Amino acid sequence: MTNPVVTPAGTEQSGADTPILEVTNLRKYFPVRSSGLVRRTIGQVQAVDGVSFQVRRGSALGLVGESGCGKSTTGRLITRLYDPTSGSMKFDGREIGNLSNKQMLPLRSEIQMIFQDPYSSLNPRHTVGTIVGTPLRVHKMVPEKKVLARVQELLEVVGLNPEHYNRYPNEFSGGQRQRIGIARALALQPKLLVADEPVSALDVSIQAQVVNLLQDVQKEFQIAFLFIAHDLAIVRHFCPEIAVMYLGKIVEIADRDTLYNRPHHPYTQALLSAAPDVKQAAIGGRRERIRLEGDVPSPINPPSGCRFRTRCWRAEEICARQEPPLLQIGRTHKVACHFAGELGQESSTPITLSALGVDREGTPVAGATPSTEDLDKAGFSDSWTDLTTHAVASDEINREHPAEDTGSTGATSTSVTDQPS
Ligand SMILES: Nc1ncnc2c1ncn2[C@@H]1O[C@H](COP(=O)(O)OP(=O)(O)OP(=O)(O)O)[C@@H](O)[C@H]1O
Ligand code: SF4
Ligand SMILES: [Mg+2]
Repeated sequence: MTNPVVTPAGTEQSGADTPILEVTNLRKYFPVRSSGLVRRTIGQVQAVDGVSFQVRRGSALGLVGESGCGKSTTGRLITRLYDPTSGSMKFDGREIGNLSNKQMLPLRSEIQMIFQDPYSSLNPRHTVGTIVGTPLRVHKMVPEKKVLARVQELLEVVGLNPEHYNRYPNEFSGGQRQRIGIARALALQPKLLVADEPVSALDVSIQAQVVNLLQDVQKEFQIAFLFIAHDLAIVRHFCPEIAVMYLGKIVEIADRDTLYNRPHHPYTQALLSAAPDVKQAAIGGRRERIRLEGDVPSPINPPSGCRFRTRCWRAEEICARQEPPLLQIGRTHKVACHFAGELGQESSTPITLSALGVDREGTPVAGATPSTEDLDKAGFSDSWTDLTTHAVASDEINREHPAEDTGSTGATSTSVTDQPS
């Protein structure tokens, strides 16, 4: 697949090390209003409640979770279809969370979205040429007389017949319509594409083709992706990093291998146990299915402490009293669980005691100094909490003390200040 006209985006040298997107403590609460003439606010839907993550340039982060956990809201915040309630969103190093519509306009071309439903996201009264050409015209990407040629190139890039520019969406299949949506998103040469369940409305046989197409365009044009899905199997081959959401919060975020092979959050373990694993089946292995009890609670009145506790088989008293912070427990692994660990090997003592300054029932310890402010940061730091010792560990320390025991993460602990009582 070649396209000489659409130039690679996001390849500038300036700020090459900074992530293309950095989201810190992002919140979106939707007001719930009473019925009647005077519509008072009687509650809030905590759709997204303090999420932090990074998307690296030209890379892909998968955002996964059950229906209603806040994935689309997160995507819509990033594309600024919604205004955030609070928090920060830095795109290419620049804060965009507080920009007005007018200030956002030049950036809209750089952050594009692919929608879940290829039927409703394309205007049935417009031809494909108009649908793909309109952003080119609005943003004056090419002179008017070159719009058609560019539209045809884009159709070719996404595997459609360039001569079909004057057809209407209803003349295409679901997979082809999603390709039109992708062509429209590519038209403005974005640096970041938010793909909101781009294949979930398609037949299984077509899903792989569209995912492959997205992977091709990502490589060719160096576009970073936030790839939203409710199915861990879909993001597995696309995203080197994956974040798992539950009821408005990120509960685990890690590199792909860690997340799939050594999930440490009970919810991720349950999701993975439900996902078909071709590799394991091939070697005769099978993950034991974990059945989650009950429904997802309402985001208007979420459970106290850990939001997953009403469905968690590992919950203890501290889980109801203290919200577990998203603690880094490995080089590229963060988990929000007091008892994080591989299935059957969970920590017997809460790993969060030192960070929260509480005892194992969740009661604040007099004189203890909680250290949760750093835990809202996006991305991974150079040091983390070692699960065996509960002390701080890092590669740097490991190099300084190569002879010491490296514990479960392969790194060395510096101190025992985090040692649980
Ligand atoms: N405009 C809105 N007004 C009020 N509540 C909303 C609005 N949009 C979303 N919500 C609520 O916010 C929560 C998160 O919704 P969201 O669409 O982000 O979930 P999702 O993870 O994308 O789910 P799905 O997998 O079904 O697409 C849900 O409880 C939803 O009902
Ligand atoms: S914090 Fe407690 S309730 Fe939440 S996932 Fe961990 S063990 Fe379960
Ligand atoms: Mg959604």
